[in-house]
Amino acid sequence: MKILVTGGAGYIGSHTTLCLLEEGHEVVVVDNLRNSTSVSLRRVERLTGRRVDLHEFDLLDALAVDKLFEENQFEAVVHFAGLKAVGESVQKPLFYYQNNVVGTLNLLQSMEKANVRRLVFSSSATVYGASEDVPLSEKTPLAATNPYGRTKEQIEDILSDLGTADSSWSIALLRYFNPVGAHESGLIGEDPQGVPNNLLPFVAQVAVGRREKVLVFGNDYPTPDGTGIRDYIHVMDLAAGHLAALDYVKDRTGVFRWNLGTGRGYSVIEVIEAFGRATGSPVPFQFAPRRPGDAAVSYADPSAALADLRWSARKDLDQMCADHWRWQSTNPHGFS
Ligand code: UD1
Repeated sequence: MKILVTGGAGYIGSHTTLCLLEEGHEVVVVDNLRNSTSVSLRRVERLTGRRVDLHEFDLLDALAVDKLFEENQFEAVVHFAGLKAVGESVQKPLFYYQNNVVGTLNLLQSMEKANVRRLVFSSSATVYGASEDVPLSEKTPLAATNPYGRTKEQIEDILSDLGTADSSWSIALLRYFNPVGAHESGLIGEDPQGVPNNLLPFVAQVAVGRREKVLVFGNDYPTPDGTGIRDYIHVMDLAAGHLAALDYVKDRTGVFRWNLGTGRGYSVIEVIEAFGRATGSPVPFQFAPRRPGDAAVSYADPSAALADLRWSARKDLDQMCADHWRWQSTNPHGFS
């Protein structure tokens, strides 16, 4: 298929683009490169021996989006483009709603005009908010707790309404748990700008010597070791989930929702210990107060994706850390 990948230069986007190319699809990427770089896609080209057609513009530029659809006959869209920093979204809510929601509306309008009605959307387990009704199933009520999460929830609502209004749409909403790791080559991986918000990139930067120690946010949660529990999933497993979803929506219409997680939770301390095993030396850490808004425990019920897509995560925490470390240690400053 000829597929448009929005945000394809980013972390999950670049890994999914790689898998799509390896499956023989033709990929066109649109990315504003605000939080990413075209270097990731050049490396994807190197790894696959295939070309990626990159268009550098913003989905807020509705005319440019329309033009891209006029010039290409896409069969499906995988939509990653969006801002994703929780803290920044609290500071700049309008910026987040504008970018994520309006950008998506522009995309959908262009798709409709061009008669392209097959979409895989990058949602997030963040739509479940602080719910600790674990494991979290697709039936768990949505209750995002910050503007970033609400943009994901609102886009899910828009897509559900669209599917109800026009039954010719095929839409997959993928709710990711905590994506980590990197392609096994170590050539592409997550490259956050500034201080990483998420645990694994922070741990990796401590391990590589860019930061002194990990601050563990809270050791008084009602969990076995007192630290927060999350469902970490290897980014290549996640990418495979997108291919499975694309395959599913290819010859079905409707709106479908799937959790993409492993179904197994690990504590912050277990992650830090696993990373130490990957690097061969313990990662220094210190306990700090809880981070406001954090749930104690979050992990997926991934059974719907297994039943419908015949997809399940394959890589364990040690593989996630080993691959994340290969990327970080060979690219200590990311792509720059
Ligand atoms: C966070 C976001 C979520 C987003 C997801 C993926 C919040 C409240 N939630 O989820 O909306 O979808 O990232 O981008 O920000 N931790 C530390 N020290 C650190 C960093 C994290 O102890 O320096 C702990 C956290 O308290 C948590 C776990 O590690 O228990 C995972 O944190 P993180 O990677 O930020 O993911 P989430 O909080 O699950």
